[in-house]
Amino acid sequence: MLSTRFSGIFRARAKLSFTHISATPTILRSNASTWANVPQGPPDPILGVTEAFKADDNPKKMNLGVGAYRDDNGKPYVLNSVRKAEQLILQDKLDKEYLPITGLASFTQNAVLLAYGKDSIPLKEKRIAVTQSISGTGALRIGGTFISRFYPHSKKIYIPTPSWGNHNAVFRDSGLEVANYRYFDKGTIGLDLKGLLEDLKNAPKNSIFLLHACAHNPTGVDPTREQWDEISNVIKEREHFPFFDMAYQGFASGDTDRDAYAIRKFVSDGHHIALSQSFAKNMGLYGERAGAFSIITSTPQEKTTVESQLKILIRPMYSNPPLNGARIASYVLGNPELNQEWLSEVKLMADRIITMRDKLKNHLVNDFGSKHSWNHITDQIGMFCFTGLTPQQVERITKEFHVYLTKDGRISIAGISSHNVKYLAEAIHEVTR
Ligand SMILES: Cc1ncc(COP(=O)(O)O)c(C=O)c1O
Repeated sequence: MLSTRFSGIFRARAKLSFTHISATPTILRSNASTWANVPQGPPDPILGVTEAFKADDNPKKMNLGVGAYRDDNGKPYVLNSVRKAEQLILQDKLDKEYLPITGLASFTQNAVLLAYGKDSIPLKEKRIAVTQSISGTGALRIGGTFISRFYPHSKKIYIPTPSWGNHNAVFRDSGLEVANYRYFDKGTIGLDLKGLLEDLKNAPKNSIFLLHACAHNPTGVDPTREQWDEISNVIKEREHFPFFDMAYQGFASGDTDRDAYAIRKFVSDGHHIALSQSFAKNMGLYGERAGAFSIITSTPQEKTTVESQLKILIRPMYSNPPLNGARIASYVLGNPELNQEWLSEVKLMADRIITMRDKLKNHLVNDFGSKHSWNHITDQIGMFCFTGLTPQQVERITKEFHVYLTKDGRISIAGISSHNVKYLAEAIHEVTR
């Protein structure tokens, strides 16, 4: 009865709207012009590189723009530990109910354990607030918004020059003003420690600083342990607030503990850090969007209060996070056998990248006799290498050698294989002669 009445109403509405549209074309015209003033936005610089690569039919073409791991045949790599976790999940016939707003607890608990380590005091004292996030980007956005709402001292975040291309937009859209601090020295193609420390010292007390925990993107330049210690001291002196972005734990050295050095050192120095974690690269879960945002508080009570506000912030954005990636990661992190296999796969990926760095430098220097110093290729760490190629050299290498990379001269080492590393060295040598 009820459904007949509804379908009657629906038919009447449908008829009405049909008559309405066909009888009044002027309304349609004004609707069509509603967005006429929307300006065309620029294409994403990295996706633009991939599009140009796809359109090129030269068999020697190389895409070194994209930040995703490839195996030695240039193919995407799904980790065995991940495949096994998927099998177990299938066998366990789990349901697809909504997750809580802060996500899957078995995932977030393992994520913080991975980052802060089992000996972490705030972890033992249950005062780390944490929520699952839509990968690293989502974690940064949650963090940015939380800070913008509740950090009492400042609404400005300092990010390194250069930084991951999305940091600026993420923090701006979180309601923060974005400023820069010096990080990269173009002369040495290394860390500008002096500039960095000066900028830390000169910023107003209690400023917010975004730090890449390891495998800095795009430069591949990380502070050494001693340099991190110095940075931590200055941040302490100035009472700044450190917000770490850790998108590559394990990817830099092949060892997840070693790559967490900065995080753990800052925590043991007493900083109440915020942290964004991504499982896109180190677990190859790119499209699954598994990540976590955490923040150290002073007491378990404060952790509960902070988490209550994280929930209030997340609920109107996306209600609750996706289940599948977090479930896979929680199986991989929580099952001792899978965990061991995963750690060795992380090492395998990192080692392949390190080998490619060695080979690239070796070909440049020993096979092609390049007179430049290419030490930075092997000094840098992680997925990316800042080659030092100028925009003109980038244009030439793309045009003449079909090698695609971003204009800043950054290459993704993960996109190089033993089949094409010599060709790449030759191309780099030719455009830098
Ligand atoms: C430094 C840095 N932070 C965060 C991210 C976010 O990655 P995702 O949202 O895919 O986890 C990336 C990805 O390239 C990155 O390089």
